[in-house]
Amino acid sequence: MTPEITVLYDTIRWEEKALLEAGKKKNTSLQMLDCKKLSLDLDKKPDDYGIVLQRCVSYYRNLHSTAGLEGMGVNVVNCLNTGIFAGNKLFTHMLLKKHGIATPFATVSFSKDAALETLEKYGYPQVIKPTVGSWGRMVSKINDSDSAEGIIESREKMYPIYQIHYLEEFVQRPPRDIRAIVVGDKVVAAIYRSSGNGSWKTNMALGGVAEECKVSNEMEDICIRAKNAVQGQIVGVDLMESKDKGLLVHEINNTTEYKNTVRVCGVDIPSLMIDHVLNLSK
Ligand SMILES: Nc1ncnc2c1ncn2[C@@H]1O[C@H](COP(=O)(O)OP(=O)(O)O)[C@@H](O)[C@H]1O
Ligand SMILES: [Mg+2]
Repeated sequence: MTPEITVLYDTIRWEEKALLEAGKKKNTSLQMLDCKKLSLDLDKKPDDYGIVLQRCVSYYRNLHSTAGLEGMGVNVVNCLNTGIFAGNKLFTHMLLKKHGIATPFATVSFSKDAALETLEKYGYPQVIKPTVGSWGRMVSKINDSDSAEGIIESREKMYPIYQIHYLEEFVQRPPRDIRAIVVGDKVVAAIYRSSGNGSWKTNMALGGVAEECKVSNEMEDICIRAKNAVQGQIVGVDLMESKDKGLLVHEINNTTEYKNTVRVCGVDIPSLMIDHVLNLSK
């Protein structure tokens, strides 16, 4: 029997278990498919998957399985373009600018010397980020030219993606940021994330602490426009409350985590995700 929904995963987190439970509650025919067991015959008619809810944690597995499936005619949420656009902070930045959505001032440099020159030009502190990455990994605050020299030099010895020196202004903000979960055309819930250990980074993966954030009309409008800018359907939009520029979007998550948002807001996000996907097939 063709499932209505296939949840494609490579790691079962709380999020994936919750999707399975939500599917059961609704009597949806939902199959869980481990991407690590998947081989696609790219030139044949695809198996019956229904709509694929892409949940792979691995960036490359996620993007390439979406490319294969979507290319074979399968409807994947989010689509390949969203994986490409939201999966890369530079690509996201350019699309946010194009759509008139406020985002931190940023530069990109393509060598050590060019990056150091840019850092001197705009002054310290600045934030350097891998264009592809998550959970705050390798996101560094550069406070002065000595640390700049060391950090940029180290990156020059790494895998080529880390030699793309994407730098942002260090945004003056309260010691927190916002994660808003968008499902279709609605922000279904949002949290403030504060660092639990005094770090300037507020990722939950780094021990961040979550609190409910009431969604203002302004925030809703920004998040929907941000989701549309990357052609997304179900995304996590990260925002900062800049002291002088207001709400800035600094990231859009293509395969967003939502465990803590469900916990503190009490919104059944997995059920809303399943409803959204089921509506697409109507
Ligand atoms: N430009 C910035 N200014 C100040 N803090 C920032 C800036 N960019 C990111 N941060 C902090 O660092 C965290 C991680 O950055 P983010 O761009 O979301 O990368 P990741 O994809 O690794 O989560 C954010 O949640 C926020 O707390
Ligand atoms: Mg983030």
